Amino acid sequence: MPLGRRALLTGTAGTLAAATLPMRALAAPRATEPNGLLHGLAPRDGLFERLPVEDPSRTLLARGWLFHEGDITPPAPVTHDDTYSNAKAGNARGAAAMDHDDSDWAEVTLPHDWASAQGFVETANVAQGYRPRGIGWYRRTLRLDPADRGKRLELHFGAIATAATIWINGSIVARNFSGYNAIDIDLTPFARFGDELNVISIRVDANAMEGWWYEGAGLYRHVWLSKRSPVSIATDGVHCDPRLGGDGRWSVPVTVTLDSIAREAATANVLVDLLDPAGKVLGSARGQAELQPLARAEVAITLPVDNPVRWSIETPTLYTVRVTTDAPGGADERRIPIGFRTIRFDAEQGFFLNDRHVKLKGVCLHQDHAGVGVAVPDALLEWRLQRMKDTGVNAIRCSHNAQAEAFYQLCDRMGFVLMDENRIFNPAPENMAQLEWLVRAHRNHPSIILWSVFNEEPMQGTEAGVEMVRRMAAHVHALDDSRPVTAAMNGSFYDPQNVSSVVDVMGFNYYQGDYDKFHALNPAKPSTSSEDTSAFMTRGAYATDQERHVMSSMDDEAAPWGATHRKAWAEIAKRRFVAGGFVWTGFDYHGEPTPFTWPTIASFFGILDLCGFPKTAYDIHRAHWIDDTAVVGIAPHWTWPGKEGQPIALLVTSNAERVRVVLNGRVIGEQAVDRIMGNSFTVPYAPGRLEAIALKGGREVARAAHETAGLAVALRLTPARRQILGDGEDVVPVTIDAIDAKGRHVPIENRATRFTIDGATLIGVGNGDPNSHESEKAPQRSLFNGLAQMLVQAGEGRGKVTIVASADGLRPARLVIDRVAATPRAQVAVTPPGAFILNWRRSPSFATAPDPALMPPTNDNNSWDFTRSGNTTGPEAGASFRLYRATLPVRRRVVEEGGNVTFARIDGRARVFVDGKVVATKTDFAAAPLVASIPPGAKTIAVIVEAQPNTRSGFNGTVRVAPKG
Ligand code: GAL
Repeated sequence: MPLGRRALLTGTAGTLAAATLPMRALAAPRATEPNGLLHGLAPRDGLFERLPVEDPSRTLLARGWLFHEGDITPPAPVTHDDTYSNAKAGNARGAAAMDHDDSDWAEVTLPHDWASAQGFVETANVAQGYRPRGIGWYRRTLRLDPADRGKRLELHFGAIATAATIWINGSIVARNFSGYNAIDIDLTPFARFGDELNVISIRVDANAMEGWWYEGAGLYRHVWLSKRSPVSIATDGVHCDPRLGGDGRWSVPVTVTLDSIAREAATANVLVDLLDPAGKVLGSARGQAELQPLARAEVAITLPVDNPVRWSIETPTLYTVRVTTDAPGGADERRIPIGFRTIRFDAEQGFFLNDRHVKLKGVCLHQDHAGVGVAVPDALLEWRLQRMKDTGVNAIRCSHNAQAEAFYQLCDRMGFVLMDENRIFNPAPENMAQLEWLVRAHRNHPSIILWSVFNEEPMQGTEAGVEMVRRMAAHVHALDDSRPVTAAMNGSFYDPQNVSSVVDVMGFNYYQGDYDKFHALNPAKPSTSSEDTSAFMTRGAYATDQERHVMSSMDDEAAPWGATHRKAWAEIAKRRFVAGGFVWTGFDYHGEPTPFTWPTIASFFGILDLCGFPKTAYDIHRAHWIDDTAVVGIAPHWTWPGKEGQPIALLVTSNAERVRVVLNGRVIGEQAVDRIMGNSFTVPYAPGRLEAIALKGGREVARAAHETAGLAVALRLTPARRQILGDGEDVVPVTIDAIDAKGRHVPIENRATRFTIDGATLIGVGNGDPNSHESEKAPQRSLFNGLAQMLVQAGEGRGKVTIVASADGLRPARLVIDRVAATPRAQVAVTPPGAFILNWRRSPSFATAPDPALMPPTNDNNSWDFTRSGNTTGPEAGASFRLYRATLPVRRRVVEEGGNVTFARIDGRARVFVDGKVVATKTDFAAAPLVASIPPGAKTIAVIVEAQPNTRSGFNGTVRVAPKG
């Protein structure tokens, strides 16, 4: 077949692209697509399909956060009063205090990784990519509707990097040590309603490290607020993993965990429905539980299912278990996607999915991407996984930690099998709780086939190591009896005590020379490579230059403990008993710049670079892993000015029978395909068109081509998708490259480019160069070996996204992407940040107006009440005067310019004093608001309230301090 249509790309400055555009929506790129810019990067049709809503009680809490970079240490308490109050609930000090001055903090929207905006610093940690991480604070004011009283309110943080302390309304509610697990917080007992606002404060210590790769900093995953009925389903409270019985019949055992915060004992009715992929109810069952107040109960129900369609890598069919509860106080619901599939690891035969042998063609992934660090939006996650699909990957190892919730949902939907991995190897209660969270949160995902309790632990060959793994594996099995446990070992395989004896599947990191020996000694133990390869490639570079920290992409560079892409797969492919492999890594990642150090800031291991642009490893693995379509790739590119006549080594990779290389229409050679090692040819360089033709049965089945590019004359913009959802969240990666006068990609162009964007937000830029120190946030980026990437995040509503890219000496490119109308996901309303007087001291009652300077003696915590707005007092018999005192919250502008104190409502007459001087008077008893003007530098406020006889008196609603006007 000829090379295919040449198509006019939207926004390519009117030039023709030398490429075939695959038109299938979100399908793998066509085999005949020429190598070059559009190799797997052509725009796709279709839109980002929203992720399933599993818990309808949750609303995103992404907006309205305030951020302060750096620590804030409050002065230690000195006086007895301060010390006394410091020890009390709700009285956190400093930035955790409810009334802390955050008026100068930056507004941020989550997900947020503050480290990704940092410059690179030579003295910073090499493994973390030379980015200072440090300490930061977040605050969010939250108004809860009075109608939410009595509901169970929960905050859910997808993860925080790294150690975090969380306060709600001045009380510590969580100390979290993992940068990867979710944090669920029961906010109910601390909640305030109506005008009594809530304050969430979070101190994040991102100096804490859990890994040896870039870990980011801050609230980098989604945060949700859930509001549930008083008797409701617990978070992670539905376990519904289908089982195939010995009788060959499927069932879904469903266990529902219910929690009650009701004040009375309650009966909860539970309805479980099984829905087919079209949403039709296939079967239902009911159960019931009695719950005592503040107690937990479980309901177990089993749904039989006849002949469900299997979930597989090729057709990842998902059903849904819908759980509905009904109890006094309201209903609750969960909708959990499930898949019917069987898994089996066999010691001789490897891995079976639905009793079909499947070789694990896997990659290890860290979670960051160019431009955004670890704060990867859902749509970008999907794009990254699509790039893995395009590579032929069918298995992913979550190295070395839990990924975002969306990641697992996407893997279920897209058809990947996963090794899910625990971070910290430690069975002590704190870490066991992290392991337990991992299994409970993920055990319904059909994609997960293996739990890994550790990666490369020096204690793997010790008695203690064995005892630790034994406990962790037992805990995993108690929570999930359907999946095996592994541990990724790098040695100690033959030590008298080693953990291979207590895992279900042996995991080899590297040590490929030990596969056979271990297998011979442990013939009943299934095994897989848990990690292999660790080869080095710089995308678009074809010669190693140690001085410039550049690695050739011809697949001849690897770490001493690893192997090239081809050699590593050769060892796995030829052994049936090795279930498969997991290449270190699918994408380059920030940090771990092995084998170099400064000024290199990112890794070289990826099959794709930091932006997801393909290296030669992409074609190598497509030839290894793709069976159903013919593929062929050829490296290097064919633009080598000055090298005319010099021999150039070619690497041709294909899954066909034979490959033929053609230069400018002349056949250079033809060979039988070596699908694993590829085929080598050497050709004297002559500009023109270089082609690799893959043949089967003598017929051409695929073709790859490079054309020599002339001088760059224009820029080009190529979006990953032609449309973007106008939901404020969708992200489309856009490739920037330079083209010559004939519209051909110029693979050697490194020019600086700059952008303007309308209708979307630029959330990050990159170019895949591990040595680049350019900002990943600025609207500019140099091309690196021909390519750069921008990530644009949609605005809301229907419209257009217009991007213009320019560079000195080149024609600019203009790209228009349709922004399609979409309802944004619901967000918790943003509460305008403000300062509120929350804590008052209230005097005993007096028959006559007291001296406004009156205050309780120091150390006296008893004779005056500690009170808040809303706690009115009375009716008083005879003594109708009370004095209220408070310290004014510090707000920089109010301190400098003065401001107003606004009482939403005072019941009774009142006189307001600031630092001893009257500033406002209310002469009526009737409840009414009052505004008092305060001078610059004001410190204390006192209010004498006189109650109307036999009536309650005091403050109701907020007492707000704000600048004037
Ligand atoms: C492994 C380790 C990975 C990464 C890799 C680099 O030993 O598990 O996290 O460091 O080496 O080759």
